[in-house]
Amino acid sequence: MTIEFQKLHPLFAAEASAVDLRAVHDEDTLERIRAGMDEHAVLVFRDQAFSSEEQRDFAIRLDGELHRKTGISVLQKSRFGDEAITDVSNVDTGGEVLESDSRKRLYGLANRLWHTDASFQDPRGRYSMLAAIALPPVASDTEFADMRAAYDALADETKARLAGLRVHHSIAYSRITLGFEFSEGESDQLKGAIQPMVLENPRTGRRSLYLASHASRILDRPVPDGRLLLRDLMEHATRPDFVYRHSWCSGDFVIWDNRATMHRARPFDDTQHRREMRRVTTLDTGDPARIAQAV
Ligand code: OGA
Ligand code: MN
Repeated sequence: MTIEFQKLHPLFAAEASAVDLRAVHDEDTLERIRAGMDEHAVLVFRDQAFSSEEQRDFAIRLDGELHRKTGISVLQKSRFGDEAITDVSNVDTGGEVLESDSRKRLYGLANRLWHTDASFQDPRGRYSMLAAIALPPVASDTEFADMRAAYDALADETKARLAGLRVHHSIAYSRITLGFEFSEGESDQLKGAIQPMVLENPRTGRRSLYLASHASRILDRPVPDGRLLLRDLMEHATRPDFVYRHSWCSGDFVIWDNRATMHRARPFDDTQHRREMRRVTTLDTGDPARIAQAV
């Protein structure tokens, strides 16, 4: 099966031609999608009709191992019965819109911070695949930032300074900056992971800045210098010309490379309108990103 990709932004993100991903099992087509991911970092597939199990099985076919140690699983079990299938919604188990003070809601609001999925785990996340199940009648967009373009735009001396730096990522950290409170037991399970500041895609050799609001400090720099550097880099990486904004249509299925992009949900009136999305994320195992050492 031939899939064509049409660019959605000058730098990255593309829309795939019509295909039912449930029926994609052949290695040639899966490899075409992987090559599309290497080139565009965000791929939009329209009109998909996955059940949660079909979505999970497609993720395994495309990219292997699944991320199951999600942050939310520490707070509550997935309503899909498998921690690999993440409920990205503002509804409770009965399908009702969450109360404004619900813990699940407050936790999920941190998706509005620029982040990458599963950078707080080792192995880190690779591809995330988000399916739009039920959309509100108002815009509830998701923005993506191209972290390869952000890396390329750095001055050579900055690139040299960043190569080899190690950054601590913690999902508890990004939530705490918003005032979310964890119990001691929860915090113990959310210690975070150490990640390189610069990653290199082993298939293309392209480098990217690996940042997120989960990035709490740079191990090789004292506080506050490291935190200030992280803030400057986040500002740089989310310049408007590096950002693609996705306006969701029902049936959209978006795959992004967490090593090459950041993303964030845009605000909408989430205490009024239901929004149900379902995500599966793979792990960066089997030909993982290389750690960039020198320019
Ligand atoms: C996610 C996420 C953003 C959104 O699913 O990982 O950050 O707009 N989603 O729902
Ligand atoms: Mn996310």
